[in-house]
Amino acid sequence: MSNLGEVDQRVKEINASKVVNEKFNLNIKISKLKRNTHALSKNYDIKKYLDSNQFTFAPEITELIPKDTPPYLDNGEHYVERIGRALAFFRQCALIGPSGTGKTHIVYLVAELAGLPMWEINCGLQTSVFDLFGRYVGLGKENWIDGLITSWCRYGGILYLDEANMMKQDIATRLNPILDQRGHMVLTEKDNEIIQRHKDAFLIISMNPRIIRVCRYQANKRSNEAKNERLAEL
Ligand SMILES: Nc1ncnc2c1ncn2[C@@H]1O[C@H](COP(=O)(O)OP(=O)(O)OP(=O)(O)O)[C@@H](O)[C@H]1O
Ligand SMILES: [Mg+2]
Repeated sequence: MSNLGEVDQRVKEINASKVVNEKFNLNIKISKLKRNTHALSKNYDIKKYLDSNQFTFAPEITELIPKDTPPYLDNGEHYVERIGRALAFFRQCALIGPSGTGKTHIVYLVAELAGLPMWEINCGLQTSVFDLFGRYVGLGKENWIDGLITSWCRYGGILYLDEANMMKQDIATRLNPILDQRGHMVLTEKDNEIIQRHKDAFLIISMNPRIIRVCRYQANKRSNEAKNERLAEL
């Protein structure tokens, strides 16, 4: 009687492990299927520059990869591929165009096609240095919260700085060491912690030419020259 009970138990165990294995296989198949059959991937030849299979991100930030972005239409300029190429070679680029020309749209599309999480910041808003780099909450120095730029530097993806020519000088200056060969940021607020730029961290800024012209006459809003030298213009 006890032997039969043991056999039953063993059979149950085997079945359970099969189920687990089948589920495991099934998951892998689904994720591969999604990556290779993106509805728009055949329209844009971006894979030769940015291949989603070569990127690795923490599972919690993969939720930031855009979904269901509509196609971007152009007259044969191949903007999507050109942004992919700029990011592959320089890891950062600048989009300059009037309002409504699809700058935000194309960045979302590139992020979706390349499987990159998006961190979006509008520099025209009065966002403080603390929101972007991080701060301690509560009393003392126990609970630190990363800002958006710090999170991007740690975890990777595309940092999209909209209306970058409206960026405050103190923020622009702190971006410089991240964008050049140093490739790190220093959190002066957090005992000078040094954060290395994630290997798959890309930066795209967008600017409106009309605002750039206005800014030339406003010394306090002038687009930071040092930052611009570190970017490929498109
Ligand atoms: N070439 C295009 N193909 C498809 N849709 C486009 C194109 N250009 C613009 N659009 C559409 O026009 C709308 C405005 O585009 P978007 O918001 O990306 O412009 P923008 O350049 O970011 O403007 P702003 O400078 O005001 O932020 C969006 O709904 C976008 O889908
Ligand atoms: Mg926009």
